[in-house]
Amino acid sequence: MGGGSAADELATTLGAGVGAVLAVGAGAGALSAHAAASSSPRVQGRPRISRNSRLRRDFPYITGVPANSVKLERLVRRFSGAERPAVDDVTLEVGQGEVVSLVGPSGCGKSTTLRMVAGLDFPDSGQVLIGDRDMTRVPPQARDVAMVFQGFALYPHMRVREIMAFPLKMRGVGAGEREAKVSKTAELLGITRLLDRRPAELSGGEQQRVAMGRAIVREPAVFLFDEPLSNLDAALRAELRVELGKLLRRLEATALYVTHDQAEAMTLSSRIAVIRAGRIEQIDTPRRIYEAPATTFVAGFFGSPPMNLIDADQARAAGFALDPPKAPEQLVLGIRPEHLQVGDAVTGQVSAQARVLGSEPHGSDTHLELGFDGFSVRAKVPGFEVPAIDAPLRVGFSTEHARWFDRDSGKAL
Ligand SMILES: Nc1ncnc2c1ncn2[C@@H]1O[C@H](COP(=O)(O)OP(=O)(O)OP(=O)(O)O)[C@@H](O)[C@H]1O
Ligand SMILES: [Mg+2]
Repeated sequence: MGGGSAADELATTLGAGVGAVLAVGAGAGALSAHAAASSSPRVQGRPRISRNSRLRRDFPYITGVPANSVKLERLVRRFSGAERPAVDDVTLEVGQGEVVSLVGPSGCGKSTTLRMVAGLDFPDSGQVLIGDRDMTRVPPQARDVAMVFQGFALYPHMRVREIMAFPLKMRGVGAGEREAKVSKTAELLGITRLLDRRPAELSGGEQQRVAMGRAIVREPAVFLFDEPLSNLDAALRAELRVELGKLLRRLEATALYVTHDQAEAMTLSSRIAVIRAGRIEQIDTPRRIYEAPATTFVAGFFGSPPMNLIDADQARAAGFALDPPKAPEQLVLGIRPEHLQVGDAVTGQVSAQARVLGSEPHGSDTHLELGFDGFSVRAKVPGFEVPAIDAPLRVGFSTEHARWFDRDSGKAL
């Protein structure tokens, strides 16, 4: 997605109209809850109130709604001329205070889904519910969501404190309150010392923090993140990932988080939706996604290296004494690289003789590429191992780690 233009679009749509909804209650409570403003009469989960009379007239039902959960029901979006829908019958629920990641290959419909939650795009059929209210046709400014994009375009002429205060200003929040909220949010993000700088005077990571600050300061009911860390270098990305995780938990944020990065999905979310060609292939906890992938697609998407997928008859022919639950010609064996053991460690396991095709030492562990007749696997072994290429090596695993998939459907048995 052209991050900049989309960001501008959202800045206009969400920004300008935001005059609109005063985020009280629920998600909104998050920041104030953090600030221990428990004396406030606004209890978490209580109704949200619209301040803007026009919106209240046009969308009477958005007032008085606990608005921080998201439900997508049978969402379909077909772009004109496209062979198949970009988003194809997506049903998904993000509970209050839950972070759900959308992951999947480029073009699978992640951003399109998010844009429909934001109100920047509209489905051909299906519903978007926020706080159990139908928001499918409601304009973005009435949804009380905040979106953070990759490479968020910050207003170049403004100082950080003005950038962060801007969404509040647009919704008519007074100067004193703006200042208080900006400084509280800046403190939360560790960017207080940057408040008087302009975007050109910030590093990429700092800019991204400011973009998040701009979203957080509004205390929206729902956060939408579209690859917010993807244009940062690896080290900074990992650092911000940890911080963002802490922040989301602290805010008890309800969020949809789009990413290519399996590490982000694993560490930041309570549940992960793996999307393939517009459809949800599996939605589950990170642990279930990793340990019990529903399909070979999910199995091959997570893990680094990902799960080895081997035709069961080939595995048997290579010498692994497996007892598959169905005819091996109909099955794919899935085995994680860390569950493969080599050399003397294989005692008592099903094993076979391989040749070393390559090794990649990472310091704490080494990824070995091991060749059999007709296929190869990757193993992750502890320590710094650099066996000679072509060296023979015994490879084994304990059968409790074997996962079986139907070869035709790709589905787990
Ligand atoms: N405005 C549009 N008009 C026509 N087709 C579109 C439009 N926006 C997206 N698409 C198509 O819809 C599909 C899904 O796009 P989307 O941007 O949702 O993918 P994505 O999962 O976010 O991919 P990436 O990981 O590359 O950002 C793609 O095939 C894309 O080409
Ligand atoms: Mg995208």
